[in-house]
Amino acid sequence: MPVAVHIVEHPLIADSLTRVRDRDTPNALFRQELERIGTLLIAEATRDLPTHEVEVQTPLTATTGRALSSQPVVVPVLRAGLGFVHAAQELLPSADVGFIGVSRDEETFQPKPYVNKLPEALAGRQVIVLDPMLATGGSLAHTCKLLVERGATGTIIVVCVLAAPEGIQLLIEAGLDLAIYTASVDERLNETAFIVPGLGDAGDRQFGSPASS
Ligand code: PRP
Repeated sequence: MPVAVHIVEHPLIADSLTRVRDRDTPNALFRQELERIGTLLIAEATRDLPTHEVEVQTPLTATTGRALSSQPVVVPVLRAGLGFVHAAQELLPSADVGFIGVSRDEETFQPKPYVNKLPEALAGRQVIVLDPMLATGGSLAHTCKLLVERGATGTIIVVCVLAAPEGIQLLIEAGLDLAIYTASVDERLNETAFIVPGLGDAGDRQFGSPASS
């Protein structure tokens, strides 16, 4: 299946999700809860990373263990995706991190790119995109296009807190090969393309509102 959607059901995710949805949650707590969700989603999203057998010497004897066969490339989509970077680096300390900056034009809802800092070559490497919100899907489609241009092959893993059905549909129609790990597929987008019931603006709730450009 070109776009597989995995809704990760876990009581700790559900508990944190309630707090990130709550409009009265202060930004500091919002960031903490978002990161906790990120940790749990990334753990699930990386469940099938390939490993190989290695030998290890314990204080008592030699035995075998397993090690990751290659290091993924983690790509947060600025700004909101920054909220998952610490969680990703805790779990994947040797992963490279690339950065894509896209802001959504709030009148046309089209993605406006402003940063592209990716590793030189992505061929053969597992790419994991971090973006808490999948709304129209425009930002993610743009990001994946840049990743493919840089050589990414195979299934791109996407980690998001919330996804809208409209965004998932756009990605399917774009013919992308994705495995999306999310805490929830919400009901719909509203007339300003915000996810409903949603959590508001994940960038603003972490970092405050930027001046419009
Ligand atoms: C939000 C969100 C996603 C994007 C989703 O970012 O963090 O990146 O919009 O919308 P889409 O699926 O319709 O493209 P925003 O443009 O508000 O920037 P920010 O992260 O800097 O707040």
